[in-house]
Amino acid sequence: MSETSSFMKRTAHCGELREEHIGDEVALNGWVNRRRDHGGLIFVDLRDRAGIVQVVFDPEASAEAHELAADVRPEYVIAVRGKVRRRPEGTENPQMPTGNVDVVAAAAEVLNPAKTPPFSFVDETDTEELVRLKYRYIDLRSPRMQHNLRIRHEAAQAARAFLNAEGFWEVETPILFKATPEGARDYLVPSRVSPGNFYALPQSPQILKQLLMVSGVEKYYQLARCLRDEDLRADRQPEHTQIDIEMSFVAQDDIFDLTERLFAQIFHECIGAELSLPFPRMTYTEAIARYGTDKPDTRFGMEFVDISDLAGEVEFKVFSKTVASGGEVKGINAQGCGEYPRAQLDQLTDFAKDHKAQGLVWMRVTGDGIDSPVAKFFSEGQLQQMVERFGAEPGDLLLMVADKPEIVAESLDWLRREMARREGLLDNSVFNPLFITEFPLVTWNEEEARWDAEHHPFCMPHPEDIDLLSDAPGKVRAQSYDAVINGVEVASGSIRIHRRDIQQKVFDVLGISPDEAEQRFGFLLRAFEYGTPPHGGIAPGFDRLVMLMCGESSIRDVIAFPKTQRAQDLMSGAPSAAPPEALRDLHIKTDLPPAE
Ligand code: AMO
Ligand code: AMP
Repeated sequence: MSETSSFMKRTAHCGELREEHIGDEVALNGWVNRRRDHGGLIFVDLRDRAGIVQVVFDPEASAEAHELAADVRPEYVIAVRGKVRRRPEGTENPQMPTGNVDVVAAAAEVLNPAKTPPFSFVDETDTEELVRLKYRYIDLRSPRMQHNLRIRHEAAQAARAFLNAEGFWEVETPILFKATPEGARDYLVPSRVSPGNFYALPQSPQILKQLLMVSGVEKYYQLARCLRDEDLRADRQPEHTQIDIEMSFVAQDDIFDLTERLFAQIFHECIGAELSLPFPRMTYTEAIARYGTDKPDTRFGMEFVDISDLAGEVEFKVFSKTVASGGEVKGINAQGCGEYPRAQLDQLTDFAKDHKAQGLVWMRVTGDGIDSPVAKFFSEGQLQQMVERFGAEPGDLLLMVADKPEIVAESLDWLRREMARREGLLDNSVFNPLFITEFPLVTWNEEEARWDAEHHPFCMPHPEDIDLLSDAPGKVRAQSYDAVINGVEVASGSIRIHRRDIQQKVFDVLGISPDEAEQRFGFLLRAFEYGTPPHGGIAPGFDRLVMLMCGESSIRDVIAFPKTQRAQDLMSGAPSAAPPEALRDLHIKTDLPPAE
């Protein structure tokens, strides 16, 4: 092996060589992607960040290089010098961007050999994720992950460029801070110098960005790391990144306008997709009524149809009793699915039950009426009314759930998305953004018997609803909003409370006493008394935006070093036990058994 100081330094990137380079003498550095030994000739596909080019080792061109190539294996790091030539006729590879040329090696050098990798990303695409995460540094070499990292980088640059041009200042805020309520648990960091005291890692820079408005920054942004100890899913990580934005002297529409143009620029620059502006707006109430969710995927129809009024009249007890007891009956029309066989309908029923429904009524609409096990409980006229309400045609399939409104919404939302998946209606190259507006300010927490902030405690109530705060808090709409793309919540924000009296009223609703408010947020409340401009903001979830642009279904695939569902880093083994001395320094005593 050569000295690292004197290796053949690259003059060109593998993936960039084209016909215009024919005749050039180049030096390449990269990884052996694949090697094929054809007796006399050895072909090495050499890979670097820009892509792959074929290198030909011909003993007649260089016996020494040929000998070296006979020994290299996948993922060896090598340097090659040689001439770019047109590939001999008939050997071009139109699948590769470099497929019309190859490089004939005149000299080669192994910079570092490699063990056989635990998995190959060259031929296999379905390596188990746990293995990929354990050897993440190898996984990140794959074309898919390199593409995702590049798009993520470009998205960050596009966001910064856009916001800089709009006059925003990027301000960093502390990671060691006080608890910021965003509905998750805090990660705590013990203080060595203040025994028994803890910092909380920020769930978001929410309070700090509001303080920056008090400070007169007027337009703030930050690609902010947010840390939340919460139940993880495909679209949730313990650490995520927000394009955190706050502005002074603005109303909701100013924030929408900014967000639309920000998203349009990011999607345009990163993947050449054109979002159409303005984004549609839909109130929370309307979204729940039409889709059962506050993050509807509007790439396809199948909107909810409310048949509670009809269902109250029928002989079918499941329907009539549900309506009589204050529940509702809603359904969707799965157009063209009237041929679904019984087994598939049973599967759908199980699917609905897995998502809290007690059952599923299905009706196949045929040329001679309704085909359904429960059709006998409906009169001809009632069936006809239902067909009309659903706008159904022969060949359609109606799916209905009867229950409490929350359960109808949840199970039918799952079913609607499942039907779209089965019917191939989820086109990842289409992006349907919209804003959901007028979220409720608070929601009732059944378990704890108290009102919780729907978003966070700093959202300004709708001006028309302020009077409802003390008597009917559940009816108060907030000036808060989400942006949704293809069923993914990609941003949240609100106009904030900038007056101490209103903030105190909201704390009262949330059961936060003046003492507790002082202890948790006293610094913010005091700040509000020293000249606070009206302000508001939004925080797009950066990982989710990148996930959508990359056509991925998990944010883990757009984060370099993500954690598992159990918040573990499989590569490093974090979290791991701390040495007793470190705990002693931090004044922490633990009598838990050591982790396995
Ligand atoms: P919120 O908590 O809704 O609002 O977060 C804003 C956006 O961040 C993304 N997001 C996440 N992405 C990955 N993993 C997570 N665990 C995660 N949690 C949230 C979502 C979400 O829409 N301070 C407010 C924003 C504001 O009011 O300005 C906040 O943090 O895309
Ligand atoms: P049962 O009377 O429980 O045998 O149910 C008769 C049919 O109604 C079955 O197809 C069930 O799947 C369906 N069903 C039962 N409960 C509900 C419900 N709450 N909503 C929709 N369909 C239901």
